[in-house]
Formats: sequence, structure tokens, C-alpha cells
Amino acid sequence: MIESSRTTWIGTSLAASRQPNPRMLAEVAAGLSAPQKELPPKYFYDHRGSELFEEITGLPEYYPTRTERALLRTWMPRLIPNLGTRSLVELGAGSAEKSRIILSAMRATGTAGVYLPIDVSASFLNETAIRLRHEYPGLTVEPVVADIADEFAPPPGIPHPALYAFLGGTIGNFYPPAAIRLLGRIRAAMRASDRFLMGVDLRKDTRRIEAAYNDSRGVTAEFNRNMLLVLNQELGSDFDPARFEHRAFYEPVNHRIEMHLVSSEDQEVRVPGMGLVHFERGESIRTEISCKHDRSSVTELFAAASLKLETWRPDPEVLFALAVGVKA
Ligand code: AVJ
Repeated sequence: MIESSRTTWIGTSLAASRQPNPRMLAEVAAGLSAPQKELPPKYFYDHRGSELFEEITGLPEYYPTRTERALLRTWMPRLIPNLGTRSLVELGAGSAEKSRIILSAMRATGTAGVYLPIDVSASFLNETAIRLRHEYPGLTVEPVVADIADEFAPPPGIPHPALYAFLGGTIGNFYPPAAIRLLGRIRAAMRASDRFLMGVDLRKDTRRIEAAYNDSRGVTAEFNRNMLLVLNQELGSDFDPARFEHRAFYEPVNHRIEMHLVSSEDQEVRVPGMGLVHFERGESIRTEISCKHDRSSVTELFAAASLKLETWRPDPEVLFALAVGVKA
């Protein structure tokens, strides 16, 4: 397995007794010192968090995953042979369930391919790599444990044309300046024959979006609170998840869902290396934004990173879209 130079480990393999990751501590300390307390959404995804997210993707209210999957099933069997894709570089690969649709389309073209899944969750990534090597004999699978937000440096020496895929609408979890920097780094790695495939959740009826983040079974609430357990595990903090409530709402000015954990009482939380963090009753930690897009906002986002929107494919209900970018 390739490890990037500044690998971010948040897996369950890191015992709380070991030295906490200094970078994680710095990010958490900065975020919890801000007037609006905030934590980076990448800290949802330890092994349990990745499992909870998988569960979310199957919920009736959570339309993005199944809509994107249907778009990929319809389109990849034509797009991949047209592009002649030989490498798939996938950012934030997770369980790679949707990747199989692209990998199967690559296999159908008859050339031996290369698959580079990149993810912060080492344990999930390894399980996935082992399974895929069995399912796709002849495919080279090279997992990369890295924080894409931080320093995505695309691996050298891969066969081209390459397809860089960033699916699931995860671009929406980045504030626009960070999203543009990330796209810029991908663009810097691309050759003229390469393509960037991005999934985006679309602007629509507010109730429909809010329902996707407030599921009736409470899985999203558990996913949200799981971040506090990740902090306890990795930093030795003493958050009590039962004293925080899940809240998710649409913020129309910036076209985004915001997920918060709201303190249900006045409390102090100890974070070793940082000290005591005070919460007033009703005070919240913002744990995630999920920006929603349309064709023109994606065109602008791409343009800011010197990418040109080549193809735009929404589903028939216009819930979600796949966008293909090429070097401008
Ligand atoms: C990681 C972008 C797919 O923003 O919808 C799901 C994560 N958060 N429910 C999203 C998430 C709450 C998700 N993505």
C-alpha cells in the first residue's frame, strides 16, 4: 500500500494510549476555539463511521447514492470505451461500491487497468482492495491512505488516459476556496486526454434535502455523534455523545446543508493538549456542510480551477448530476 508523505490516520488501529496525531489535535483545537465551533467532516470516518455512512446510503430518504449509481450504470458503459480509460484514480473511495460500475466498464474494453482508491479510512480501504483484487483478476489495485483535502498528489507513472473520479457529492463537504484548491490539484495532475468525473447533489425542494439528513431511523444522528467517539478514541477527550443532539438544516444563502451537534446542557469537555472546552446549553459544533449545486455553479467551480465542463448529466428527476471536466 502507498502511504502519502503526510498520511492522516484516523482508523481504529490507533489506540488512545498512543500519542495523538498532532495535526488532528491542531485542527480540533482550532475548530473548537472558533466562535462557531467546528470540526472537519473527515473525522466521521473511522471504521464505525464508514459503516454508518454505508447504512445511510441505503436509507429511503437518502436519494444521492442510488441516484448517482443509476447515472453511472446508464452512462459508464458508453463513456469509458469512448475515453479509452486505463486508470481510475478515485478520491474518497470508501467501500468502492460505485467504483465497480466504472471498473466493470474498463474491464469490458479488454485492457488491463489500474485502480487507485484514495481514502482517509485505512481499514475500509484495505478490506476493499483485497475484495477487488479477487473480483477483477488482472486489475492492479494500489490503495493510497491520504487526506485528499490536505495534499492530494496524484501518483506518478499510471497509464493514461486516466479518469479522476470524485463521487457521492463529497465536493460539497468543502468550503468553496478549499474545493477550488482541490480541483486545482487534480487539474495539475491531468493530461489533455484525462478526464475528471464528479458527482454533485443538486439544489431542489428544501424539504426533500432536509429529509435526507434527518432520517426517521436516526442513522444520520448516530453518524453525526460518532465523530465525538472518534475524538475520544484518538485524542483521549471525554465527550459524552448523549449530551449532544443531531441537527441538520438547509442554509439557503450558501445553498448548503449544515450538520451540527447541539449541546443539550451547560458542560465542560476535556481535550488533552487543549484543555477544557466550555459549551453553553444550545451551543453547537458544526460538523459538516454539504453544498448543493446546479449546472452554472459547477461551471463556475470548474472554471475557477481552470477546468472546462465538458458534459453534464442529471437524472430524470434532476436530483443529482454527474459532471465531466477536462483541462481548459
Ligand atoms: C459524504 C458527501 C456523501 O454530504 O451527503 C451523509 C455525507 N452526511 N449524511 C453528504 C453525509 C450526512 C455525504 N457525502
